[in-house]
Amino acid sequence: MFERKFILAIFTAVVGLAAGCRCSSSSLTATPPLILRGKSVYAGNCIACHNPNPRLAGTVGPEIYGSSIELLEARLLKGTYPEGYKPKRPGAGMPVFPHLAGDIAALHEFLNTP
Ligand code: HEC
Repeated sequence: MFERKFILAIFTAVVGLAAGCRCSSSSLTATPPLILRGKSVYAGNCIACHNPNPRLAGTVGPEIYGSSIELLEARLLKGTYPEGYKPKRPGAGMPVFPHLAGDIAALHEFLNTP
């Protein structure tokens, strides 16, 4: 009887350790660098008007979670919309950001991460 309890205790400890190992190896689940870059570009350039949480509407700009590459390129580089796109808000309050041309992929990644 004693032995069975002992074996059970060891078994529990080993399973516990294994689970602990999985939890602590968080590098496997860490946020990829492109998303982090998109997040910081967003924080530095967009949240004056858009909500820090891109799923929510901002003070001036609408919610932009899920924006496509085409939409971001049109808005950021030309101040336009992709052909046939229906804007969430009317107006032309948003400036262009030509210096962010190299960051559109990162922004897109950030804005499309579940
Ligand atoms: C000065 C305020 C301002 C800043 C800064 C700004 N936006 Fe906007 N944004 C707007 C406004 C206002 C609209 C609504 C259309 C308009 O008035 O131009 C808009 C619309 C958009 C849209 C289109 C939404 C839709 O589906 O209709 C996208 C995408 C967008 N912004 C992305 C961005 C990104 C990415 C940044 C940062 C690089 C940014 N915006 C920075 C004000 C801003």
